[in-house]
Amino acid sequence: MASALGLSSNTFDPDKDIPDLDGKVYVVTGGSAGIGYGIVAHLCNLEDLKQTDEVAKQLAQKLTRLDALVCNAGLGVGIYNETRDGIDSHMQVNVFAQAHLTLMLLPVLQKTTDSRIVHQSSYLHKGATTSMKLESLHEMNQDICAMLLYNRTKLAQILFLRQLYSRIKATQFGTVTGNTGLPWINTTHPGGIKTDQQAQAVEAYGSLGKIGVAVARPFLKDPVSQGCRSALFAATSPDIATEQVQNSLIVPDRKVVEPSKQALDKTLSQNLWNLTKQVLESKIGNLPCTT
Ligand SMILES: NC(=O)c1ccc[n+]([C@@H]2O[C@H](COP(=O)([O-])OP(=O)(O)OC[C@H]3O[C@@H](n4cnc5c(N)ncnc54)[C@H](OP(=O)(O)O)[C@@H]3O)[C@@H](O)[C@H]2O)c1
Repeated sequence: MASALGLSSNTFDPDKDIPDLDGKVYVVTGGSAGIGYGIVAHLCNLEDLKQTDEVAKQLAQKLTRLDALVCNAGLGVGIYNETRDGIDSHMQVNVFAQAHLTLMLLPVLQKTTDSRIVHQSSYLHKGATTSMKLESLHEMNQDICAMLLYNRTKLAQILFLRQLYSRIKATQFGTVTGNTGLPWINTTHPGGIKTDQQAQAVEAYGSLGKIGVAVARPFLKDPVSQGCRSALFAATSPDIATEQVQNSLIVPDRKVVEPSKQALDKTLSQNLWNLTKQVLESKIGNLPCTT
């Protein structure tokens, strides 16, 4: 377990520590099951970029404020599959679709004081292959094995948000003032939580998967009520602002830790940004937010 980087406390109990949210607006993906169910509501099929785009547009039109976007939806360690858009389903659901949602909702997040962007990553980002370049869809559309497909997406989520943070800070998305323009942007790891994701690993690896899950079970035992804490802390706690938790990886309940060296790699981050833009523009068309 990595060490905490200077937060005032390590615990966050949603029952006591979430402040009054009256009048605030939150959007959470992957709310139908698992950890997201502990956070909130189901949104749209991220395996279909046109549908994701429609939902994103409707939300962007309707919302006059957005206090937090929590991108929690995710495919777990599971078999290689391509979506109807012709993209590795792991990259599409976990990365490209939720990057699109984030970019489409960025304007409303930017005008809401003290807003938050939270993507649910994982410690398993540390297990991504070191040879990856994140340069082309051809590279994404290779069956590199269930575990590596998942780990790559968890790394890519961190790279995407780090690139977004530096671009917003450099005012590529408009003026940044004291209170608005730059949301609090963080990735989270929920812990080892007992959810349906373990079934996906069994499907991918058959009997080996059963053995793997049995071996991993002691580390994937915590209930959803624990697994939602780091994301809820990132999305709601006033301590994020007072303790300046920005561009960070938060692990349960509220510790800031260093991500992997790969997650801090500026070339990889730039490549992922370019690839995301290329994929989204080729499948959806011109996008207002991708500079
Ligand atoms: N469980 C852990 O120990 C653990 C550890 C590290 C990170 N995480 C991360 O935590 C997040 C939640 O995982 P979980 O364990 O709660 O998994 P889960 O129980 O399998 O829930 C995944 C959620 O994502 C949604 N989802 C999957 N594919 C989707 C799609 N194509 N379009 C829209 N929604 C989709 C699911 O909705 P449907 O059921 O409707 O498909 C469900 O609400 C994931 O990002 C995962 O990588 C989990």
